[in-house]
Amino acid sequence: MEIKAIRGFNDILPDEIGKWQFVEKTAREVFEGFGYSEIRIPILERTELFSRGIGEATDIVEKEMYTFSDRSGNSLTLRPEATASMARAYLEHQLYNIESIAKLYCIGPMFRYERPQKGRYRQFYQIDAEVFGVGNPMVDAELIIMLIHFLNSVGLEKLELQLNTLGDRACRPQYREGLRKYLEGKAFQLCEDCKRRLETNPLRVLDCKVETCKQAIADAPKVTDFICSECQKHFDSLKEYLETAGLAYILNPRMVRGLDYYTRTAFEVVSYQLGSQNAVAGGGRYDNLFQEIGGKEIPGIGFAIGMERLISLLPEGKQFVKHPDLFIAALGEAPSKEAYRIVNQLHLEGIRAELDYEGKSLKSQMRRADKLKARYTLILGEEELKRGRAVLRNMENKSQEEIPLQDLIDSLRKKSFQIEQSGL
Ligand code: HAM
Repeated sequence: MEIKAIRGFNDILPDEIGKWQFVEKTAREVFEGFGYSEIRIPILERTELFSRGIGEATDIVEKEMYTFSDRSGNSLTLRPEATASMARAYLEHQLYNIESIAKLYCIGPMFRYERPQKGRYRQFYQIDAEVFGVGNPMVDAELIIMLIHFLNSVGLEKLELQLNTLGDRACRPQYREGLRKYLEGKAFQLCEDCKRRLETNPLRVLDCKVETCKQAIADAPKVTDFICSECQKHFDSLKEYLETAGLAYILNPRMVRGLDYYTRTAFEVVSYQLGSQNAVAGGGRYDNLFQEIGGKEIPGIGFAIGMERLISLLPEGKQFVKHPDLFIAALGEAPSKEAYRIVNQLHLEGIRAELDYEGKSLKSQMRRADKLKARYTLILGEEELKRGRAVLRNMENKSQEEIPLQDLIDSLRKKSFQIEQSGL
């Protein structure tokens, strides 16, 4: 039987990879322009990093982690997200001694055992950015501005920035209790999961997609009715900073996010072109995460972008697939050897060139050049070779010229320069 990939795990094929490379390159350029440095963290971590960091009573920890014992009996987990690992690396390498404020980003696959559907996979890629060491809402605004700027830079428009505050250790317990009391009165309407959440994590009920639960929360108290004056001040300043920067947002008091480490700021970027899995990116502040994973009190804020979702939104028409600059169609033994020599030389010069390996007819070689969408074809026959010349054919406008072989590289360079100049 033919072996197939695991459900929810995708191959990213060569005809799609141009988009991925474009997105990653733009992220690196934009983020580094904002002062962020790349960090690479392991894909496997000790399970307790996530159970303590993300929270025991979250869907991720309760039912979505890929957890197993290694051969020494340690419980390990494939990372379901990057924030906890980045915080661990910052503590472990005492990066705060180098500079108390760290701006870091990472790009890579995450793993969650969710029910696969369009925009939701078991292995998916995130672009993640974090700032450790600053509690000032100015940084919350700067980070959100960077996110929106990046999404616009890759061509995404018509996005909605949703904003909420989740309070902190001082005021969230009151909200939690207020919400729990309200929901107790609606328990008969709640799904089985939410009945359980009522005790373990009532805020999660606000996130539930079941219709009767949605009805039950219609008049639920809002977090903004409960937050303390410090959290209110933080939220007001953030909104002011965003407004000063001309960034539009909408308030969504029902947004709680799926991870428990958040304090104060929470946000999501939503696209209504995406269907039910409509969040392109999500993030927020987490001023207690470092303590949860055994460190001192260090404030932090960050976001992660879902790459599959982002890529499905990229505007069409942009040229992402790379085609050969030149295909050499050679006829006969001597031309074929010469073609091999030239192609090797072109490769060393960084020019994408292809040739025929199978002694095919000229017609079939030209067909392949067409199929590969080569910009030019060099037609090399015995006669031309004897004179040190060959025919260079522009595959787009079909014009041909005979050129001396020794001028080939120069000619191609000039032509590709002209192509780039004319924006083709
Ligand atoms: P998250 O909301 O769980 O946050 O994930 C961020 C983004 O990853 C989502 O908005 C979505 O685009 C994408 N995503 C999540 N799960 C899947 C999936 N199963 N398939 C495809 N895409 C998915 C976090 O992960 C936090 N660590 C973000 C953060 C960073 N908060 C602070 N710093």
